[in-house]
Amino acid sequence: MIKIESPLKTDVLILGSGIAGLRCAIEIAKGGLKVTVATKDFPKESNTLYAQGGIAAAVDPDDSPKSHFEDTIRAGDGLCKEEAVKVLVEEGPERIRELISFGAEFDKKAGVYHLTKEGAHSLRRILHSGDSTGKEIEQTLMKQMAITSKIEPLAYSMGIKLAVNNDRCVGAYLLDEKKSTILPVKCRAVVLATGGAGRLFQESTNSPIATGDGMVVALEAGIEMANLEFVQFHPTALHLKNAPRFLLSESMRGEGAILRNTKGERFMEKYDKNLMELAPRDVVARAIVSELKKDKAPHVFLDLTHLDPEFIRNRFPTIYATCISYGLDITKEMIPVHPAAHYIMGGVKTDLFARTSLKGVYAAGEVSCTGVHGANRLASNSLLEGLVFGCRAGRAILEDTLPMPTKFEKDIEINTQTLSPEVVNELRRQTPSLMWQGAGISRNGSGLENLFSELLNLEAIFGKAPFERRARETWNMIQLGKAISISANYRTESRGAHFREDFPKRDDIRWKRDTTLIYKNGKHIFL
Ligand code: SIN
Repeated sequence: MIKIESPLKTDVLILGSGIAGLRCAIEIAKGGLKVTVATKDFPKESNTLYAQGGIAAAVDPDDSPKSHFEDTIRAGDGLCKEEAVKVLVEEGPERIRELISFGAEFDKKAGVYHLTKEGAHSLRRILHSGDSTGKEIEQTLMKQMAITSKIEPLAYSMGIKLAVNNDRCVGAYLLDEKKSTILPVKCRAVVLATGGAGRLFQESTNSPIATGDGMVVALEAGIEMANLEFVQFHPTALHLKNAPRFLLSESMRGEGAILRNTKGERFMEKYDKNLMELAPRDVVARAIVSELKKDKAPHVFLDLTHLDPEFIRNRFPTIYATCISYGLDITKEMIPVHPAAHYIMGGVKTDLFARTSLKGVYAAGEVSCTGVHGANRLASNSLLEGLVFGCRAGRAILEDTLPMPTKFEKDIEINTQTLSPEVVNELRRQTPSLMWQGAGISRNGSGLENLFSELLNLEAIFGKAPFERRARETWNMIQLGKAISISANYRTESRGAHFREDFPKRDDIRWKRDTTLIYKNGKHIFL
């Protein structure tokens, strides 16, 4: 029987320790409140840690927030929330200057920041630290966080449920993986900063922890979710036998890498004559799929062999070393690549200050849907969003001054049934495979319906939500998979990253709007 521990009391509980969660924690601590940052794995593990390309912002004198705004809106394919994009591009440069003042180092050339380019940006505006920008930012924020005694990290503690009383969140329940206990946390506010859900798909660039946990916690509390059908597939993940689907940053194409099919032909000209390899990600990913089908090939190639080997080794040290460790010298050989799930644009619906539809719950970073990404995220806007809206979440919490709840009644039903690790592993294997087939790069109504019912079958094997980490993550993948597939089936058009074979056109009359969903009494309801 799983023991429920005595409640922990803190002012603010943040679930997740990527860029959004950490930036939020720093802001709240400045205001004097006590913060607990709970992570389900070791404290630094997050998608932020693995972000390669960089962080976009109009920091160059030749650039402007207006130009960044226009590129973001264009990539979002008619669905960006303009006020949110304005906040992103106008506050972004200030947040970056502050990050630099915390100690973050970005690459410079002759004393000025070296800015790189990625798909759909009209100019070079991406700051980077080699090809491991996320690691530099994560380490900087961790160090900044350690300066204050107000922030308490709590590792291996997975948020599994929100505690709600009288339409207000009064805390949450954490599953302590090491002790196999439940820790109730009573607090003024909970921040969901748990990141994304790329691991719901068989081919994914994401960290194994990206199983959509925060989105499921929100869904199960009846919080409004938006645009879950919009999943971005990155065109170039490493496709080598026995190697993980390691990301090959779009900045490689920004620095001149070329896509070739297995016949060695450069093919992007057929799909986007002007932007070629730097077309928006959905265009490049679908172009690759088309070439794979045509040539019945398992992958296409990313070719850097025409670039200076020294430049490649210096500019992409992590990618170079990783590929070498799998026997591939990218300065001499073309890299086999295949698209993979990378980022979810939808999530927990928020206002401009990260407030959700449930009082006391805030969301920031990939778990949220602020509206900045619309139907397709502009490259390197995600770290920026985490930074800007993580800070805004902190400010909103300080401003909202919610009182510490007086009542916190334990309201969690423990399921003592357990499945064997073999069964959990099989469900964990089947779920992403079904998602890839049914809700991958190209979708259709019957495939999505079939996916939903297959996921119901997997859910039935569990019966109820399990209380063991790996099983719970798998349960979460199934829950979020259902919400994604039902949303993707609901939106009968193609827009941005959501492509329907049976509705291949964009339909502004019916669909130039968010898909807002709540989960109530076991049913998905569109608002
Ligand atoms: C990349 O480096 O290609 C990823 C950057 C991003 O997803 O924004």
